Amino acid sequence: DFYAIIPAGGIGSRLWPLSRADAPKFLHDLTGSGSSLLRQTWDRLEPLAGPDRIMVVTGRAHRVAVESQLPGVADHNIVLESEPKDSTAAIGLAAAILHRREPDVVIGSFAADHVIGDARGFRRSVREAVAAARAGYITTIGITPSEPAIGFGYIHAADESLGAEGATTAHAVRSFVEKPDLKTAKKYVANGSYLWNAGMFISRADVLLAEIGRTEPELLAGIEELAAAWDTSARGAVVDRIWPTLKKIAIDYTVAEPAAAAGRMAVVPGDFDWDDVGDFASLAKLQSGGRKNNLAVLGDNARILADSASGIVVSQSNRLISLIGVEDIVVVDTPDALLVTTSANAQRVKGVVDALKVSG
Ligand code: GDD
Ligand code: MG
Repeated sequence: DFYAIIPAGGIGSRLWPLSRADAPKFLHDLTGSGSSLLRQTWDRLEPLAGPDRIMVVTGRAHRVAVESQLPGVADHNIVLESEPKDSTAAIGLAAAILHRREPDVVIGSFAADHVIGDARGFRRSVREAVAAARAGYITTIGITPSEPAIGFGYIHAADESLGAEGATTAHAVRSFVEKPDLKTAKKYVANGSYLWNAGMFISRADVLLAEIGRTEPELLAGIEELAAAWDTSARGAVVDRIWPTLKKIAIDYTVAEPAAAAGRMAVVPGDFDWDDVGDFASLAKLQSGGRKNNLAVLGDNARILADSASGIVVSQSNRLISLIGVEDIVVVDTPDALLVTTSANAQRVKGVVDALKVSG
């Protein structure tokens, strides 16, 4: 009864100019493994769901790239968006389509752009989460925080376990706070009973849709209307009419925060390594296996001369890159844009993209 959903729509603007609107983060091979983050997500899920039970929700513009990276994906499992409307619409629509095809389906949504080394540990945690989901909970997977990061949701887990059949490691959730400020994040990390939200939501499809309907009834109505037309010839016309009206809002606000507050959420502490590679500082760490004082290099044809340099170089052009006496440097060289910054400023790269949007 399990179906996996991969929402693949975020741009990953803190990885600009490697990650672009037409080539977002999830389409790139950031680990040097030979396959993109999207493909790795698919490969992790396939033993769990089977190749016919993984749905990908992505932008129309990414259709060709997604199909070539995922040759196993069935036509009826690709949901194409005319414009991004954030994760409630993406995941909610997939849930509504699947619910019509299969009323008692249990769905899990998994971000397309995370790095997980231990795929078996990941699947173990998801199986526990599926058991809690069958018992009616909106279930997430929690990661032990290593720093007071402000880019994540924080889950306050209760001490006692849930007691749902087959979900021995699942805990009840007291509260969920999406992207707290630094002061609050520090308090949570010091407290010790908070976990990072790994961006995975596992629940019965009907339970998720009911949750969306409680906070955003109009958005749910739009999603339901789209889903009703999805497998019919009316799809195109309904998409043209409804899609532009959908509210753009993340699922963390529409579902996670209110479900936690109402006692309808569970969390399975993740039994695996997890990295959301949100910026170049974390990408540098990943490439060098966490070691310092060394230069991480990404790019097949990179030609680099380095003398006492550390940090990361991403080379997507044919230029020779030479670095002398620079610590924790970030250099991203693409054919039409060059970024130079330092690891300490990695979070600020998003500002460039925002500025570009404003100036066109
Ligand atoms: N198809 C589609 N369309 N997918 C989308 C869209 C959209 O408009 N917007 C976001 N997504 C997808 C992203 O591609 C990603 O797979 C997932 O939804 C989460 O969106 P992000 O934009 O990456 O969210 P975030 O990183 O800021 O925060 C979320 O993930 C964190 C973990 O990485 C939250 O769930 C946090 O609570 C969580 O800690
Ligand atoms: Mg993300």
